[in-house]
Amino acid sequence: MPCTVIAGSFWGDEGKGKIISYLALKDKLDFCVRTGSVNAAHTVWIQSNRYALHMVPAAFVYKKCRLLIGAGSNVHVAKFLEEVEATKVKSRIGVDYQASIIEEKHSIQDKTSAHLKGLGTTGWGVGPAVEERVRRTAKLAKDIPELKPYLTDVTTEVNNAIDADKNVLLEGTQGLMLSLYHGTYPYVTSRDTSASAICSEAGVGPTKIDNVLIVFKSFITRVGTGPLPGELPKEEAIKRGWFETAAGTGRERRSAPFNFELAKKTVMLNGATQAALTKLDILYPECKGAKTYDSLPIKAKQFINEIEKQTGIPVVLIGTGPEALDIIDRRK
Ligand code: IMP
Ligand code: MG
Repeated sequence: MPCTVIAGSFWGDEGKGKIISYLALKDKLDFCVRTGSVNAAHTVWIQSNRYALHMVPAAFVYKKCRLLIGAGSNVHVAKFLEEVEATKVKSRIGVDYQASIIEEKHSIQDKTSAHLKGLGTTGWGVGPAVEERVRRTAKLAKDIPELKPYLTDVTTEVNNAIDADKNVLLEGTQGLMLSLYHGTYPYVTSRDTSASAICSEAGVGPTKIDNVLIVFKSFITRVGTGPLPGELPKEEAIKRGWFETAAGTGRERRSAPFNFELAKKTVMLNGATQAALTKLDILYPECKGAKTYDSLPIKAKQFINEIEKQTGIPVVLIGTGPEALDIIDRRK
């Protein structure tokens, strides 16, 4: 897997953090570049410790992995420094000179601007920060003294790593249905979330990508407002064990059954080559902790077969519990 892109499928919160932390340990990732911004929280469970990461790449669990934040990202300086401390990655994390900065004023604008009212944003200020970048008035990472020890040319580092046949992973945030271009506009985030955009934010050209791994959850959730086909009433979601609250904001997540039509569309738009499926143990509790495909109950296998049949790509990783290593790995 020299260069793999991890992309979200629906409205985020599919468990990308878990999948990335597994790949980091299992495949001994050399480099992981996080894209997007502070609005996304990637949850990682490692030896019963839980991390909800807004800035640091989820591959931090593998101690030899170089961690990078791409030029297309928006950096929240205080959150970045706090997480660098908590994850103890000071010596191996870098931020691109050209990443832009999200400031307190952006968060205030996010919460008070009339045009954003009703969209149910996370309130971190990512939309206003991106607006400022488009106006060409944004601060960049190179303008911030506290970031000086971390500054690097991510684009060059990551392309050199790919050319040297290192294992590189590009960490997408959110899901395709939250894409500014392809999602449920205007109920979307402030960037394209597709695999192509992830590459662009990291500074990696499309010919350098070997694998696009899309992450599906066994049911769908959405925070904030906007359409959600097949949405269940909260009581039904609780009954099924699908009721979740957001890792970042604590808000309640709405939920719906897996949607094969949407899955097909998101595989197409991402050019996905492989899929991961998380939380199979929530859909089918008998799957909890399973380590082999053969040990899964027949209905779980049928569900996986149906995803493969309808999307045309193999489901190679199957999540059967919250810890990084609770995975069935069907790759060769
Ligand atoms: P914003 O990204 O904070 O502007 O919020 C826009 C929409 O995207 C809202 O519906 C948010 O709930 C949603 N959103 C943003 N980031 C995430 C995420 O990481 N997971 C799930 N939803 C998100
Ligand atoms: Mg999340």
